[in-house]
Amino acid sequence: MTNKKKYIIANWKMNFNVHEASVYAHKLMAAVKGHRDVEVVIAPTMLALQSISLQLDHRTFKLASQNLYWRDEGAFTGEVSARHLRGVVSYAIIGHSERRYTFHEQPKDTGLKVQAAVRNRITPILCIGETAVEREAGETKMVLHDQLIAGLHNLTTEDMENVVIAYEPVWAISNGRDFGAHKTPTPHDIQEATEAIRSQLQDLFGKKTAQQVPVLYGGSVSHANAQSYLSVRGVDGLLVGGASLKLEQFTTIIEAAHSSARKERKA
Ligand code: PGA
Repeated sequence: MTNKKKYIIANWKMNFNVHEASVYAHKLMAAVKGHRDVEVVIAPTMLALQSISLQLDHRTFKLASQNLYWRDEGAFTGEVSARHLRGVVSYAIIGHSERRYTFHEQPKDTGLKVQAAVRNRITPILCIGETAVEREAGETKMVLHDQLIAGLHNLTTEDMENVVIAYEPVWAISNGRDFGAHKTPTPHDIQEATEAIRSQLQDLFGKKTAQQVPVLYGGSVSHANAQSYLSVRGVDGLLVGGASLKLEQFTTIIEAAHSSARKERKA
């Protein structure tokens, strides 16, 4: 698992309007050097994607949508399709717990969205993770299993070359407080979950794919804990919510990924 690229993904959720997003993106471009060992991705409001895509230096960071709709076009009021996003974003966050629990997105929908992304040459970042109640009931592995089966439905081993998985325990996401007790997982918790994810990927797509697919961690990542999460065996990067809204904190997290990639290169 060494010498793999690290991913640092900023999920801005419904924060920053178009102007604020553009100002931040410019500051980030000035603060961060593009590096092939670390892929920095930002997911601003859907409205800002087009303008930032025209302004940004794609070597410094890439863009992601926070969602998409799986049908390419038609009478789907208020939706934005993967076909519309094609050429604008490189990635799409799919199945985020806020989509699943606030907007009642069903497992079947996440699978269709992942397929739509792949079909439109957008790399899906499939978010999976258990709630506090599921964890307490000892169902973590089963939930991860079911969400992976549904989310990766109909994909081939070749498709999996452009898929990223993010393990995001709902109880660890900053606003997860709304869904019950909020805690921070230990490195051991994360390692256990990422191992379960890779073992499931191995059953579905074979050993090589299981080792190659980037598996990220997300949930209350901060500039203070990023390094420790990045050192968890099997974790290839971080999905950052709240801390990505503060440029200084976010650049510290990117720095942590650089140093972690450097260490692995030397090992
Ligand atoms: P958080 O959000 O870092 O604010 O906990 C992570 C996420 O929701 O992806």
